[in-house]
Amino acid sequence: MGKKLIVGNWKMHLDVQQSSLLVHKLSGLVKSHRDVEVVIAPGFLALQSVSLQSHLHKMKLAAQNLYWRDEGAFTGEVSANQLRGLVDYAIIGHSERRHVFGERDRDIRNKVQAALRNQIKPILCIGETAGERSDGETLDVLRDQLVSGLSNVTSEEVAEIAIAYEPVWAIGSGDNATAGDVESAVKTIRGQIKHLFGVSASSEIRILYGGSVTSGTAPGYLEIDGVDGLLIGGVSLDAYQFSEIVKQAHKPVSNGKDKG
Ligand code: PGA
Repeated sequence: MGKKLIVGNWKMHLDVQQSSLLVHKLSGLVKSHRDVEVVIAPGFLALQSVSLQSHLHKMKLAAQNLYWRDEGAFTGEVSANQLRGLVDYAIIGHSERRHVFGERDRDIRNKVQAALRNQIKPILCIGETAGERSDGETLDVLRDQLVSGLSNVTSEEVAEIAIAYEPVWAIGSGDNATAGDVESAVKTIRGQIKHLFGVSASSEIRILYGGSVTSGTAPGYLEIDGVDGLLIGGVSLDAYQFSEIVKQAHKPVSNGKDKG
């Protein structure tokens, strides 16, 4: 079994100094575990200074977004080429990028390509809106977003990618997807990866769940068959809760029932 992946998405919170302070706090609380990979995604401005903090070694860095061209006249954008060497991962196609900033499937596909081209591992976010869910379209939406986001990716490259299933209605809302919802979504995602890239890619690819996860609900999600980690938004700014979630990811599944 691969490592569990716990990702904290800080979104547009904290200035550079506050980001350094949170890293400092996290480094005191987060324990290193061989079976858990911990990734934090501060804002762009804080990435450089945070990368120089000596205690960062327990955690890897992710960008929250990137632009797909390597360089050029693209005012205000940050390219994968500029992020190369600074971050290990990039969150791509987050629902806020899709729905607040109008990113289209084509943009997302280009960003996945740009990340891979620059040795950055994409965390590709997919998920249905409340309307799509009530129309019974969830699984079709997931399949379509995968086909589109991963077109032009090779079966060697796909192992570098993590997929985050994040129902749009569950993000930042306090609404929790049920274990059944997540299990069927994850099964569909793995099935689609198998269809596109074959059996070994489908067993290797890491699939995360995200959407209003707290240290109270994390153990339940981590126990779901096929869930390899979590993408945490709001709660990732709370060093104590985030470190608890890392601890929960480390616990063997057989002890899951005792987590309380
Ligand atoms: P949330 O955000 O945990 O605050 O719902 C998750 C995300 O946006 O990745």
